[in-house]
Amino acid sequence: MAGAGEKVDYVFKVVLIGDSAVGKSQILARFARNEFSLDSKATIGVEFQTRTLVIDHKSVKAQIWDTAGQERYRAVTSAYYRGALGALLVYDITKRQSFDHIPRWLEELRGHADKNIVIMLVGNKSDLEEERAVSTEDAKEFAEKENLFFLETSALQATNVENAFQTVLSEIF
Ligand code: GTP
Ligand code: MG
Repeated sequence: MAGAGEKVDYVFKVVLIGDSAVGKSQILARFARNEFSLDSKATIGVEFQTRTLVIDHKSVKAQIWDTAGQERYRAVTSAYYRGALGALLVYDITKRQSFDHIPRWLEELRGHADKNIVIMLVGNKSDLEEERAVSTEDAKEFAEKENLFFLETSALQATNVENAFQTVLSEIF
C-alpha cells in the first residue's frame, strides 16, 4: 500500500450500482478497509473510499463511489457516472428482483457513462447458498450476452471481492 505522499501513477474511478440492500456498501467496506458489518445502514447520497494498489509496477489509486440503491436517496446521476472507468453492477443471489432489475441499471449506466467503461456483474451474498434465488448459470448467460465480466462474491466471507475489483482495475489499466 502506498503511504502518505507516495506517488500515484493513476487514479481510476469505479462506481457501485444496484438495488438497495444487495451489499454495495459492504463490498466497498471489505475492499477499502477489510471490514464488514451486518447492521449496515442504507446509504444516503454519495460516498467514496479509496485504496491504492500496485498493478504492473504502477501505483493505482482506486476511487470507489457508492450511492443509494433507493431512488429517494440517490444523488444526481450524471455527476455520479462522470469520469467512471469501471462499474460493479451488483445484485443479491437470494433476491430474484435485484437480478431482474439489472437490465435497468445497465441501461442507466450505458446512458450516462463512458462507452468504454469496464463492467463487472456481481452476484453478492454467495455465503447464503441455501437461500439462492438466482442460478449462477442464468447470471453467466446474461453477462455473456451483455459482454460483462461476472463473479459471485460474499462481502461477509471476503470471497471474490478482491478479485472483482482487481479484474476491473486491471482491465481499465
Ligand atoms: P443501499 O445503500 O440501500 O443501496 O444498500 P447496499 O447495497 O449498500 O447494502 P448494504 O451494503 O448496506 O448491505 C445490506 C445488508 O446486507 C446488510 O445487512 C449487510 O450486512 C448485508 N450483506 C452485505 N453483504 C453481504 C454478504 O456478502 N453476505 C451476507 N450474508 N450479508 C451481506
Ligand atoms: Mg449502501
